[in-house]
Amino acid sequence: MRTLNDLSRQVANCVNCELSASRTQVVFGTGHPRADYFFIGEGPGAKEDIEGEPFIGRSGKLLNRLIEEELCIDRSLCYIANVVKCRPPDNRNPKSAEISACQPYLNEQIKLVNPAVIITLGNFASRLLLNTKDGITTLRGKSYSYKDHDLVPTFHPAAALRGNPDAMKNMRLDFQLAHSIVSGISK
Ligand code: URA
Ligand code: SF4
Repeated sequence: MRTLNDLSRQVANCVNCELSASRTQVVFGTGHPRADYFFIGEGPGAKEDIEGEPFIGRSGKLLNRLIEEELCIDRSLCYIANVVKCRPPDNRNPKSAEISACQPYLNEQIKLVNPAVIITLGNFASRLLLNTKDGITTLRGKSYSYKDHDLVPTFHPAAALRGNPDAMKNMRLDFQLAHSIVSGISK
């Protein structure tokens, strides 16, 4: 059977969209191969592009804090990935062609990890998996299904860092919802 490592080796050489031209390296994803919680961000930033690991900048610090405080586990027990695995130049939004080109990898990661709950961070991940144009402010606060998984959409940590006064409070509530879902499921 194909493993996350097999998939990662394949994706490292991917040239299926134009982001391959400007990246330093592919940022595949990281974490526990059987994680209960699967986080999906938008795309790598400058630091992630250099280091090869998702969410290691300021957004990552905030994500780690929420994981520790609300899920009561270390980040290493979660799986963390992005909608696009290569950095969009100047941190521009990923284009729909790039998102579509990269989606098969995300789907395969979800299948391999088989998490209890998927937490989509921000508009890009939430709209992609919920197949909607609605925004995160409308979508968040409740759980959905994605294939065989529960899905909890919440703000991207960058929204809280930008000083959106309700973002942090609502992220805590959404993380608590995810925690209650996982607590009710024995794997
Ligand atoms: N923001 C994201 O969406 N993903 C990262 O990996 C880092 C910052
Ligand atoms: Fe391939 Fe995804 Fe990188 Fe595009 S963003 S080159 S589809 S790995």
